[in-house]
Amino acid sequence: MRRLWESKVSRRKLLGGAAAGGAGLPVLHALIPHEGLHGGSEAVAQEDVAHAMATHRGAGHLGAVGSVDPMANGFDPHQVVRDFDEGRMVGGVRQWELVVEDKKIEVAPGVKYEAWAYNGRVPGPTLRAREGERLRVRLVNASHHPHTIHFHGIHRAAVDGVPGVGSGNVNPGEAADYEFVASPFGLHLYHCHSTPLADHISKGLYGAVVIDPKQGRPAADELVMVMNGFDTNFDRSNEVYAVNTVAFAYMDEPIRVRREQLVRIYLVNALEFDLVNSFHVHANFFDYYPTGTRLEPRDYTDTVVMGQGERGMLELRFPYTGKYMFHAHVSEFAELGWMGFFEVVD
Ligand code: CU
Ligand code: CU
Repeated sequence: MRRLWESKVSRRKLLGGAAAGGAGLPVLHALIPHEGLHGGSEAVAQEDVAHAMATHRGAGHLGAVGSVDPMANGFDPHQVVRDFDEGRMVGGVRQWELVVEDKKIEVAPGVKYEAWAYNGRVPGPTLRAREGERLRVRLVNASHHPHTIHFHGIHRAAVDGVPGVGSGNVNPGEAADYEFVASPFGLHLYHCHSTPLADHISKGLYGAVVIDPKQGRPAADELVMVMNGFDTNFDRSNEVYAVNTVAFAYMDEPIRVRREQLVRIYLVNALEFDLVNSFHVHANFFDYYPTGTRLEPRDYTDTVVMGQGERGMLELRFPYTGKYMFHAHVSEFAELGWMGFFEVVD
């Protein structure tokens, strides 16, 4: 009873505040779908997040009021989107070191989240290699919990990064090496596989792996977009949605691309707790390569739907200059942070 009463009061208060700010819909979406879905005492945190979103959207346009400081987070979605980490070649082996740490990050203006991060960023570095290369990834655990790295790809059981097999759980203060051959070519992901699994993933321990085919791909402006979300009140449901972690980051500052330039998007769905995510681009269509494992596209479309762990490559050119939205076609996600703009320039 108490919670219901609080919810009603909260909703009225939020609606009032939102009406004054000129944006009501996102608040409704933030609050109503969650009532009755989980029985926790999440009212306060839920309200905080909804309020942050209402404030964010209250400016009368789709941009931000206030912003997330990339310096404080230590990573910037505008750099992450074009950041491909090729590691170092040592003795014919391509090598990386991923350090896991506990890190508080800001995922929307005013919304802090106690993340777990590979190399201090969420998503972790986008690892890039060529098909057939020998790879070695060292995991250093500088956090307070056991972790692993599980890579999608073809490899021996010993380096699969699951508890109880090979190096298994890597305890705080310990390290482990994962060695395998880059295969197959395509777009993959890596993530922690310690238990409880959903927690280790949703806290931020995931990233993309791009394995280029031996013959390469046509030159393009390449972008990596990891679709994710944040359960800010631990009710196993997300309150904030994004691409590359920061809600509305590309609304506030669009991703600039050139007219007629080939744009290649490496799109990964790292979302937990929601079964389906999606990507939709306005006023354009793209070639779609599921998992990037074939050289020919499977589809020509403007919307792609992905389950958990699914990923794919999108290729498109913008024929006209201007600002074009992209967002989850799951409207609730879009309103809670998962939307942005391309700005097409000559
Ligand atoms: Cu973990
Ligand atoms: Cu996986």
